[in-house]
Amino acid sequence: MSMRAAARAHTNIALIKYWGKRDSALMLPMNSSISMTLDAFYTETQVVLDKTLLADEVWLNGEPASVAFTKQVVDFLNKVRQESEVTSFVKVFTVNHVPTAAGLASSASGFAALAAASSKVYGLSLDPKALSILARKGSGSASRSIFGGFVKWHKGNRADGLDAFSEPLYHAMGHWPLEFIAVIVEDKAKDMSSRNGMAQSVATSPLYSGWLESIEADIERAEKAILSQNLKDLGEVMEHNTLKMHATMMTATPPFIYWTAGTLSVMHAVKELRTQGIETYFTIDAGANVKVLCHERDTDKVNQSLQSLPLVQQTIKCKAGPGVQWL
Ligand code: PMV
Repeated sequence: MSMRAAARAHTNIALIKYWGKRDSALMLPMNSSISMTLDAFYTETQVVLDKTLLADEVWLNGEPASVAFTKQVVDFLNKVRQESEVTSFVKVFTVNHVPTAAGLASSASGFAALAAASSKVYGLSLDPKALSILARKGSGSASRSIFGGFVKWHKGNRADGLDAFSEPLYHAMGHWPLEFIAVIVEDKAKDMSSRNGMAQSVATSPLYSGWLESIEADIERAEKAILSQNLKDLGEVMEHNTLKMHATMMTATPPFIYWTAGTLSVMHAVKELRTQGIETYFTIDAGANVKVLCHERDTDKVNQSLQSLPLVQQTIKCKAGPGVQWL
């Protein structure tokens, strides 16, 4: 057991999304998902064990964290302490490296870095698979950020969640220079968290059953496309998957829509670029901003054209990023 540990984790973008939980305490997903870890956005977290502390202390970007943020971290640390023989409290120093004020700081990189650093301090010596199971309990998508490149998070079937882990799609490790452009059209915090949004879609959307019935086919198609480095197939299934997920939100009761006029303008521009022969595709998470996929040789052209849209505030180019790194 060490008194101090620090780790860096990168955020990821889902190509085939996770949408809906079957157990919210253990964070067990309704469906499997596939992502690419990105190099541009990451979190560095240091955890220091201090036997004299009477409670955990949490610092975010050099300042004491808000009550809400501290609660999320402490809830997670309680789960780590449950698995450890050590009960002492810790100081957590976490810094989000996000080259914009656009709220891209992600719970995926945050909980992956916290899971790595805190498990080490509490003496849990977890392998990457076990770490992905632990990170999942902070935020579902954090499970995938333990690994770099293309990653699959298995939904699993067990009630204890021990088979709901992520693993890298190593068979896809041949060099495939794909890039994502994060397109910022909105920099305000969203009113609906993905947590509440998921629950509302699962409980009330008549399209949710269609989402679930078709997800395994999407996963299979995406895995094949990654294996054969077929951008057209990967892009098409990614867009289709995104639109299905958003359709469950629009048809929930009450309905909710994350898209803004800016979101739609990017979606149309991507489609227009395709008519000009450029292979590029969009995906949208639980928010208004769009991530646009293309081959590295087309990134500058795609980026220029997106930057010229009147409602686009900023674009950030991302390549594939690494898994958890110890600092
Ligand atoms: O990690 P969470 O619980 O914030 O969920 C993220 C959900 C989506 O970003 C919408 C999809 C995904 O698979 O990342």
